[in-house]
Amino acid sequence: MESRPASAALFDRARHLMPGGVSSPVRAFRSVGGTPLFFERAAGSHFWDADGNEFVDFCLSWGPLILGHANPAVVEAVQRSAAKGLSFGACCAGEVELAGRIVDAFAGQHPRAAFEQVRFVSSGTEAVMTALRLARGASGRPLVLKFDGGYHGHSDSLLVKAGSGLATLGTSSSLGVNPAVAADTLVIPLDDDEALEEVFRSHGPQLAAAIIEPLPANNGLLPQRPEWLTRLRELCTQHAALLIFDEVITGFRLGFGGYGDALGVGADLVTLGKIIGGGMPVGAVVGPRSLLEQLAPVGGVYQAGTLSGNPVAMAAGCATLDLLSTGEPYQTLEDLGQTFDDTLNAELTELGPDAPALAWQRRGSLLWLHLSSAALPRRASAIDGQSAKRYAPLHKALLDEGQYLAPSAFEVAFLSTAHNHDQVRTLARSIARHAPRPETILT
Ligand SMILES: Cc1ncc(COP(=O)(O)O)c(C=O)c1O
Repeated sequence: MESRPASAALFDRARHLMPGGVSSPVRAFRSVGGTPLFFERAAGSHFWDADGNEFVDFCLSWGPLILGHANPAVVEAVQRSAAKGLSFGACCAGEVELAGRIVDAFAGQHPRAAFEQVRFVSSGTEAVMTALRLARGASGRPLVLKFDGGYHGHSDSLLVKAGSGLATLGTSSSLGVNPAVAADTLVIPLDDDEALEEVFRSHGPQLAAAIIEPLPANNGLLPQRPEWLTRLRELCTQHAALLIFDEVITGFRLGFGGYGDALGVGADLVTLGKIIGGGMPVGAVVGPRSLLEQLAPVGGVYQAGTLSGNPVAMAAGCATLDLLSTGEPYQTLEDLGQTFDDTLNAELTELGPDAPALAWQRRGSLLWLHLSSAALPRRASAIDGQSAKRYAPLHKALLDEGQYLAPSAFEVAFLSTAHNHDQVRTLARSIARHAPRPETILT
């Protein structure tokens, strides 16, 4: 165990000054135990804590850093832009540049109403909030459908969980969310044919939109059956509800553009964040002009932001997309992912009956461990509750070896183009070595 006195001292101070010592809850290490590390600097696949300990980072700021930390071209673009002013609170060329890149990336991927416009905001939460207001404003309908376990940011109407039994009206999952607001969000399980038909049968005419990650990646990694997603698309069209793909994680992560389009299922609106800001705070709603122009100042759906379209953030986004646009990085990421799969498979085969209870789901540079002998789940309720308990000792063991995974069993790991095959092999071997064995029953 490495010594971390500087992080411990900072956390002691932080606890007095900030709730839980953190600016965002999952950073608090509550679900894995221990105390958070405080980081000082980062480059490529590594970051260093306040004690100078070095870690290979497989969390990567929760997704924006597909090129790794402090990519030189991105940093240079940021520095160049920052030297010319940090914020104008007025229009700048960077917005036009980034919007153009995003619209081009979404153009013609899938036959549906062309995605012609972008509204920039400063986070994924804001992007989703804006898309939902737009859907309600455009349709004049009150209800939104989401899927159990999906995280779409922390706006009131999405901090909801499924009600009990067959009820689909959401109940709030946070104090401070009015029950009336939560009740405007319907929640059904992923991968459930019957619930999908039923919710549209019962509420179709009142549904403004359904929102889903085309590859749910916030509560495990739960790829959906293409035919189920296609049926969701059909039902939305049939009932004139908008289909919103929340691609805050998947946008530009699995290919250059949206993952929904790659699946062949077109959404009416797409929300983006993370990668399009290259590590700076950016979110966006993308869609056809007919919808986007219902936003103010053209239309009556109000939305605004002091730092929206910030020039420095736009520069980071443009530099990131420019590096991704060749498509090559996606092959690099797939190769790294394949090395992870091959190494872990080989390790588990070698361990035979001594192998840990473990399965993993991977799509490109996203991977998720399910520490269970159960089948890989496609819906939140099928995630083995033991998996989270088994994750804590694994997380700690990896941290002590200098490998940083998300401090939560339900979060995915991210690979970047800055990782190399040796790092990925080491990760796979460490997982095989440290994951709890099948006989480990935790209560
Ligand atoms: C799919 C999805 N939507 C929305 C959000 C919220 O984004 P942000 O944290 O930038 O507000 C997240 C954050 O992880 C996300 O993964």
